[in-house]
Amino acid sequence: MTTMLQRFSTRQRVEHFVVMILFTTLCVTGLPQKYFQADWAAAIINALGGISAVRWVHRVAGILFTIVTAVHLVVVIAGAVSGRMTLTLVVNRQDFVDAMTTLRYYLGLSNEQARFGRFDYRQKFEYWGMIMGSLIVILTGLVLIYPIEVARWLPGQVIPAAKAAHSGEGLLAFLTIIVWHIYNAHLNPDVFPFDKTIFTGQISEARMKHEHPLELEGRKR
Ligand code: HEM
Repeated sequence: MTTMLQRFSTRQRVEHFVVMILFTTLCVTGLPQKYFQADWAAAIINALGGISAVRWVHRVAGILFTIVTAVHLVVVIAGAVSGRMTLTLVVNRQDFVDAMTTLRYYLGLSNEQARFGRFDYRQKFEYWGMIMGSLIVILTGLVLIYPIEVARWLPGQVIPAAKAAHSGEGLLAFLTIIVWHIYNAHLNPDVFPFDKTIFTGQISEARMKHEHPLELEGRKR
């Protein structure tokens, strides 16, 4: 029988699910606004009830996404300050060593494979990319929701600059998810066709031993 271990708490699974739904909604309602001249964009906008509905849904999803991100940051910072949370996603020197070890292994220069703890350097890179990208779309998105108020305090050029940054970062986030996350969660031979861990919270002991051996050893100690 396969021994299953707990990897993600209920809070983490709910958070991932909410972000997944909101991010998809933001891409589906944001990208057609950027490429409004394309036939596929017009088809999506019409299917969703027209441009006013699309803009409205994007703004509501954007505000909800802002709240979810703020709650996440408050929980993490409060957890770190009180000492109740171990910051397993902080980047450290070992991540760079692991990246080089993995690169050498993939190039066939060495048989040594890096051994990871709770999160490997790729997962940390994705997490911090997501945090930084979210801060950019949130700040620029708020400028686009409140352009008149912002222009009272800052030069007017900030508004078109925010639009360009928002649009570019939105596209980058979408492409990153398609290429990077879909590979890691679905196409990676270790998990193909679908890594269920973030939905069930469970991971097999065999996978844990293969992907996070240092964490497993820490738990058994
Ligand atoms: C990661 C998620 C997001 C993606 C992929 C995304 C994508 C986009 C894109 C591509 C546009 C069109 C820009 C253009 O015309 O060139 C846009 C517009 C806009 N976005 Fe986002 N966005 C995201 C998150 C947010 C957030 C968090 C907010 C609010 C805080 C927001 C508020 C807006 C607003 C106000 C507009 C202008 C459209 C309008 O006037 O209604 N977006 N978004």
